[in-house]
Amino acid sequence: MSIPPRLAVKGLTRSYGGRTVVDDVSFSVEPGHITCLLGPSGCGKSTTLRMIAGVEMQDSGTIHVDGKLICDTHTRVPPEKRSIGLMFQDFALFPHLSVADNVAFGLKGRKAQKRSRVEELLARVDLARYIDAFPHALSGGEQQRVALARALAPRPRIMLMDEPFSGLDNRLRDGIRDETLSILKEEGTAVLLVTHEPEEAMRMADEIALMRAGKIVQFGAPYNVYNAPVDKAAAAFFSDINVIRGTVRGALTQTAFGQFLAPGLPDGTCVDIVIRPQHVRIDFDRAGRGPLPTPEDGTPARAVVTRSRFIGKESLVEFALDYDGSAMSATVPSVFLPKPGTPLWLMIRRGRCFVFPDRGETLTPG
Ligand SMILES: Nc1ncnc2c1ncn2[C@@H]1O[C@H](COP(=O)(O)OP(=O)(O)OP(=O)(O)O)[C@@H](O)[C@H]1O
Ligand SMILES: [Mg+2]
Repeated sequence: MSIPPRLAVKGLTRSYGGRTVVDDVSFSVEPGHITCLLGPSGCGKSTTLRMIAGVEMQDSGTIHVDGKLICDTHTRVPPEKRSIGLMFQDFALFPHLSVADNVAFGLKGRKAQKRSRVEELLARVDLARYIDAFPHALSGGEQQRVALARALAPRPRIMLMDEPFSGLDNRLRDGIRDETLSILKEEGTAVLLVTHEPEEAMRMADEIALMRAGKIVQFGAPYNVYNAPVDKAAAAFFSDINVIRGTVRGALTQTAFGQFLAPGLPDGTCVDIVIRPQHVRIDFDRAGRGPLPTPEDGTPARAVVTRSRFIGKESLVEFALDYDGSAMSATVPSVFLPKPGTPLWLMIRRGRCFVFPDRGETLTPG
């Protein structure tokens, strides 16, 4: 018999006032794994988390922990008996308790045992020196680490984290995220992390569950979700995208960048060819001529610069294609700021293009 996952959620559904906000959500999380629920505001991430925590009741669906039924429409193990740790954005430490007492809060057992667990955890989050301090004497990032130690102290089998890093400033956040990650991995806790930031999900997750309007639209490792999005919106959630529109004729789509295969699609189907700006290459114009086509990059297309901006590590250059005037953008490492009106040539990495038929908009072949 195979070992059941640490957390298994099946068919979880919840409506408010006739509107389904979590719609048939299923996934599982293994010990030592971090799964991110990623999606735009209001897509049902926190509601999903609250049902798993047991502070909200689902309309239907089941939750199992290590193969044991925790909750369905008949059974309901109370929140405190689920072996689930919680860490939310407003993680509020108890201001009147010392750091040690905050961390010991959920611990049972003898005083000496509790003290040694508290010391172990504070050492792990690198705050041993603050054991007798009070929360107000700690920085935001230090308080965050105490909250992590407190949540981990009773050795929960599952940790639910709802945007726990969003109250921290950028530079502090990166460090704390990485530290938190390694501690959770060492403890072997199964983690469900909610975020609406793709960078955070990519950085933290073993698996991403991409949510939209209450449903999981894609589930997979960050690399796969980023590099093989299920649809245009999934691609657009992770970065700006260029959309090149085409219409199918004889299983091919004609574009400024040459032909793209459209096998199995009927003539007249509109097709969106999606490419991220970092996969658009730029070459110089040589008296009206561009680089030669290659199998990797296809046919180059001439374009005119409409705007150039330096945005930190890279430059963002926007273009209008000669072909049909449509807009394209490309990112270039470092500083590259051609003037508006400059003619350049664009090439798109064929292997980096995603082709999505737009099934709702079939045109009559003309
Ligand atoms: N108790 C409630 N009563 C009525 N509607 C609710 C309730 N809780 C959540 N909702 C609605 O359900 C939807 C999903 O809310 P949820 O908090 O799960 O979103 P979220 O994905 O966590 O968003 P965010 O990223 O903004 O935190 C929202 O439209 C919200 O208004
Ligand atoms: Mg939320």
